[in-house]
Amino acid sequence: MRIIPVADGRNFVLDPLAKAVPVGSEGLLLDGVKGCHLVEVDFEGCISSKTASWLEEQDYGFRDDISIFGQIALAKALFGWDASVELEGLQTHLAGVKHLLGLDVGCGYGRLLIPLTREGYQIDGIDQSFALIKDLNDNLAFQKQSRAFCVRMEEYISPGAYAYAYAAMNTIRYLQTKFSFLRHFRCMRENLQPNGIYLFCISLVPEPNKPYDIKWQFEYENQKYEIHWSFHSYCYLSEQITEKIEIWKTKKKQMIHREYQIQGFYPLSLLEQELWAEKKDWILEAIYDLCFHPIRITKDTRGTFWFKIRSR
Ligand SMILES: C[S@@+](CC[C@H](N)C(=O)[O-])C[C@H]1O[C@@H](n2cnc3c(N)ncnc32)[C@H](O)[C@@H]1O
Repeated sequence: MRIIPVADGRNFVLDPLAKAVPVGSEGLLLDGVKGCHLVEVDFEGCISSKTASWLEEQDYGFRDDISIFGQIALAKALFGWDASVELEGLQTHLAGVKHLLGLDVGCGYGRLLIPLTREGYQIDGIDQSFALIKDLNDNLAFQKQSRAFCVRMEEYISPGAYAYAYAAMNTIRYLQTKFSFLRHFRCMRENLQPNGIYLFCISLVPEPNKPYDIKWQFEYENQKYEIHWSFHSYCYLSEQITEKIEIWKTKKKQMIHREYQIQGFYPLSLLEQELWAEKKDWILEAIYDLCFHPIRITKDTRGTFWFKIRSR
């Protein structure tokens, strides 16, 4: 068990170095860096908010809004790079449906949703981060045509509500299991009108156990920081990749944040078999590189691509 529900409606995300084992229906036995502890759960299997804070102090993990995706200023500083190529590409592909309602899947703080709304698009955004959705709703208050909902992408259903949808910045990889991946695409099939377009961006990693360490610098609260986004481990049994993220203050070489993120492993063969094979729900229209140039890929291709699929 890696995600423990909290009674306040949020989640507690366990560090991969810790384990949680249910004990009957009343407790969880947690095994972490600082030893074993038994914690109480309510009748729905949730721990209390107080227990979640205590577990965080004891380094068992973090409440999901304490992740970088729950820290608005930090998330904006980290991901606030130039979005003009993405915006231009999306607008080219969505020009014909601009007057219809669309969906931004895992919209974050509205990096793409806000500028598209300003261009006249009407888009609903969904994201699991309460903090980001709250901030986005405040920003959208004056632009009534777009709305934001705090919900998981593998659970959100609004049948036939959307003419198109998009998921940028490799957000799809956060679907942690094959089950949640399949469920997400089933939900999206329901959410889209017949022939609806879904443009999603995903990184293909043919060898899921190959180490990498991506670093970039950014400014946050007038100070310079460096982020190290690296491969931590691959679990063959659950087919999940764990990434380690560390944020360092450049000057003092002091770490201000560390978290682990668990993701599913989604090779091209799985996309082909489950999404656009014969008798499946989708038709593959095209694959693009990050500049929206059409591209051909094989099972050995590594990189991040946009897939344009259409509901059958
Ligand atoms: C890398 S960020 C990208 C945000 C946005 N798509 C963009 O391009 O700026 C990934 C986002 O996915 C959200 N997320 C992760 N897992 C999710 C899930 N299961 N359901 C909904 N949102 C999720 C995170 O909260 C985060 O805002």
